[in-house]
Amino acid sequence: TDLAHIRNFSIVAHIDHGKSTLADRLIQETGTVKDRDMKEQLLDSMDIERERGITIKANTVRIDYTADNGEQYVLNLIDTPGHVDFAYEVSRSMRAVEGSLLVVDSTQGVEAQTLANVYQAIEADHDIVPVLNKIDLPASDCDRVAEQIEDVIGIDASEAIQVSAKTGQGIHETLESIITHLPAPQGNLDAPLKAMLVDSWYDAYLGVIVLVRIMDGTLKKGMRVKFMSNNTLHHVDRVGVFRPEMEMVDSLGPGEIGFLTASIKQVRDTRVGDTITNDRNGTEVALDGFKPAQPVVFCGLFPVDSSEFEDLRDAIDKLALNDASFSFEMETSAALGFGFRCGFLGLLHLEVIRDRIEREYDIELITTAPSVIYHVYMKDGEMIELHNPADMPDPSKVDHIEEPRIKATILVPDEYLGDVLKLCQDRRGIQQDLTYAGSRAMVVYDLPLNEIVFDFYDRLKSVTKGYASFDYQMTGYTEDALVKMSVLVNDEPVDALSTMVHRDRAEMRGRAMCEKLKDLIPRHMFKIPIQAAIGGKVIARETLSALRKDVTAKCYGGDATRKRKLLDKQKAGKKKMRQFGKVDIPQEAFISALKMD
Ligand code: GTP
Repeated sequence: TDLAHIRNFSIVAHIDHGKSTLADRLIQETGTVKDRDMKEQLLDSMDIERERGITIKANTVRIDYTADNGEQYVLNLIDTPGHVDFAYEVSRSMRAVEGSLLVVDSTQGVEAQTLANVYQAIEADHDIVPVLNKIDLPASDCDRVAEQIEDVIGIDASEAIQVSAKTGQGIHETLESIITHLPAPQGNLDAPLKAMLVDSWYDAYLGVIVLVRIMDGTLKKGMRVKFMSNNTLHHVDRVGVFRPEMEMVDSLGPGEIGFLTASIKQVRDTRVGDTITNDRNGTEVALDGFKPAQPVVFCGLFPVDSSEFEDLRDAIDKLALNDASFSFEMETSAALGFGFRCGFLGLLHLEVIRDRIEREYDIELITTAPSVIYHVYMKDGEMIELHNPADMPDPSKVDHIEEPRIKATILVPDEYLGDVLKLCQDRRGIQQDLTYAGSRAMVVYDLPLNEIVFDFYDRLKSVTKGYASFDYQMTGYTEDALVKMSVLVNDEPVDALSTMVHRDRAEMRGRAMCEKLKDLIPRHMFKIPIQAAIGGKVIARETLSALRKDVTAKCYGGDATRKRKLLDKQKAGKKKMRQFGKVDIPQEAFISALKMD
C-alpha cells in the first residue's frame, strides 16, 4: 500500500469509556469481520484476553476501508493497555502510530486516565480526533464534555464526533475523520529496514510473535534480521497482519504494521521499543528512547507448604518466559524458608502474577509486604539498592536513605475533595496543584511511592465512593527520615513483616500493626507478645492472651468419624498458616497487617 493511503492510530480512553466497544464497531462497520461472525469474534478475543490475563498488551487490527472519496485505505489500529502500571508500554505503542482517537464517555467527562493517556499521545506528536461516546444514554451531555476537553486538555473539541459505539451512530463519521484528520505515515522504501518492535507475546504454535511497525525499508519472509539492542540475528519465517485473525503476507513496507515470527523461544529475547534491521548493511541509527521497563515494586513469594518450593520455581520460570518486566531471584527467610523475591511494574502486575500462580499452578502463597526500591547511602560512600527491608544494613553505618516519589493526578467531584486532600496529606503528600473543571477538582500531589503501593487506591475509592480517578508517574528519588521497623511475635523477629517507614509515622504504624496482628493471629495455649521495634527499641506492644482450645472436647462420647473430620478440618485450617517459633501466623496476616484504616 502506498503511504498516502495508510492511517495508523490508537484509541486513548479512561477505563470503561468504551474503547473496546468502539474498536469492535469500527471492525464491524468496515466488514473486516462479517456480522454473523461478530459475536463469536468478540467472545474469542475475550477468551484470549482472559487466558493471557493482563499481560495482553497490544491488540492490533488492520482494517480495509473504502472512503466516501472512493479511495481504498488501510487503517491500522493498535490497542494500548489502560492501566498505570503499563505506562511505559503505552508510550512505546504510541510511537508506532501517528494519531489517536480520544474517546470520552459523554455521560462522565474527562478522567485521570483520559489525561494520562492523552498526554502520552500529545508527547508522541499525535494528531487527535476527539470522540464523545455513549450519546444514546439520557445522561449524555456533549456540550459540557466538549468544553471540558478544551479546558482541561487544551485541544480543540469543536468538531468532536458524537458517537454511540452501542448503536453504531457516528461510526461512519469516525472512519471519515480518521482519513481526513489524521496524517499518513512517512517512510523510505529504498532505505535499509528499520522496524520498531512494538510488542511481543508467546503463541503455543508459532513461538514468539513480534508486533512491528515498519519505518523504512521492507520486511520480507525468509530474510535475516538483527535486533539492535542485543545484536541478535534471526531468520524471519513468517510475516503477516492481523485482521484481526492472523493472515500471512509476503512483505510489509514503510508505514505498515504487522507481525513476524522467527523461531524465537522466549518473550524475554524481544524487547519492546527495540529496532529491527537487516543483518548486513542495516540502518546505522536505532530508533531513540529504547529502555526496558523496570520493576518498581518488590515482594517475597513463599509457598505456604514448603514442599511446593520446586513447583513454585517452575511456575515462576514459566510466567517469566512470557513477561520480561517481571523479575525474580531466590530468597531465603529465617521464618518462611525458601521462596522468591520478585519485582513488578506495579501493584496490579503483582496481583495478576500472584493470582496466576495460585490459580493456574495451584500453589498457595504467602506474599510479604510490598516494598519499593530504596537508595541507601553508606557512610563509606557506597550506595545500596534496597529491595527488601529485611536486608537493611546496620543503621550506624548508613549516612542517609532516599526513596522514590511520584506525581499523582486525581480527579474527583468537589464534594469529596476534602477527604482526598486529607488522604494525600496522611500519606506524606505535598500538594502541587489544584484546579477545577466544572464541578470536578483536579489535584496534583507529590507523594512517596511507598505510601501508595499498598492500599492507596483502595482507600481513594472508598473515601470517594468510587468517583475519583487516579494516575501517577515516577519522578525521582529524594532523601527522607526513613527507618526499618521490625515486628516480633513471641519475641521472634518475623522478617517478612519488616517495613521501611517514615520516622514520624513509625509509632502510629507500629501500633496499628500490632493491633491488627492481635486480631489476625489465633490464640494459642500460651500468651503471645506482639511488638514493633526500631533497632532494639520497642515502640508498640500488644499481648494476645492464652486460650485452651480442644476442638474434640465437644464430641464427648461421640463417634470416631466425626471426631476425625473435625481434626482434618483443623489440619486444613492449619495449612494456611506458617509457624514462627511456636506461633502459627495465618497467611492473610502478612498483607492485612500492613493495610492502614
Ligand atoms: P476497558 O476494556 O475495561 O478498558 O473498557 P473500555 O474502555 O474498553 O470500555 P468497553 O468498551 O468495555 O465499554 C465499557 C462499558 O460501556 C460496556 O458495558 C459497554 O457495553 C458500554 N458502552 C460502550 N459504548 C457504549 C455506548 O455508546 N453506549 C452505551 N449505552 N454503552 C456503551
